Amino acid sequence: MAQFESLWTIPIILVLESIGSCIACGRAEYRIGDECCPMCSPGNRVYKHCTEFTSTSCVPCVDATFLDEPNGLIKCKVCTNCDPGLGFKVKQPCRPSSDTVCGTLEGFYCLDPTKDGCRAAQRHSSCLPGQYISHAGTTSTDTVCSDCTGDTYSNGSFTSCQPHTQCDTLKLQQIKPGTHWSDSECGPQTSPPIAIISAVVVVVVVAVMAAVAIRRKIKYPVSGEIILGNCTV
Ligand SMILES: *[C@@H]1O[C@H](CO)[C@@H](O)[C@H](O)[C@H]1NC(C)=O
Repeated sequence: MAQFESLWTIPIILVLESIGSCIACGRAEYRIGDECCPMCSPGNRVYKHCTEFTSTSCVPCVDATFLDEPNGLIKCKVCTNCDPGLGFKVKQPCRPSSDTVCGTLEGFYCLDPTKDGCRAAQRHSSCLPGQYISHAGTTSTDTVCSDCTGDTYSNGSFTSCQPHTQCDTLKLQQIKPGTHWSDSECGPQTSPPIAIISAVVVVVVVAVMAAVAIRRKIKYPVSGEIILGNCTV
């Protein structure tokens, strides 16, 4: 009886195996026709499918192509291009077994982060005049802007609002008052010094003219006396 059983078990196992292979291949295998072929390792693609007699023949991915998983593919995938026009730079170059990893360019932040890269980037917002950059943008966050208050201003690119220049403490004249987006404008304090100088000039001139006029008035009537006085010596 034992011999009779073993005669039948082998064909039964073969039938079951072929039914099983129609449903699924092993984890490291792929199906091609009736065959379950061993997969190629990451970085390689299928060159020739396996046959009843030969194993799968694999070749490496070349020319900016990759395959990052065990596979039964006859073509490698094209590496992602990190387009600087979209705010990307290469963070990790493409390898046969892994795709390019893109990072964000300076001045951009990531909208769609992946495990170690970024799929979508956006330029940092700029602040408006009257606002300052309260938090500079990072690779993952946008710029945060805040309004200037009080006697301060920012043109939108400052990291804090600057106090308006106080023209009077510089002994200057204010030409334009400051706003939240512009400094006050000072000019040379023209009128007071000129007024003082002109006043001084006028006073001096008048004084000189007066002195001359007085001398003349004194000199002429008494000139004879002086001459006479000289002669008497
Ligand atoms: C703001 O002022 C700084 C320095 O004064 C200048 O470099 C910058 O270009 C200005 N930014 C804008 C947005 O006008």
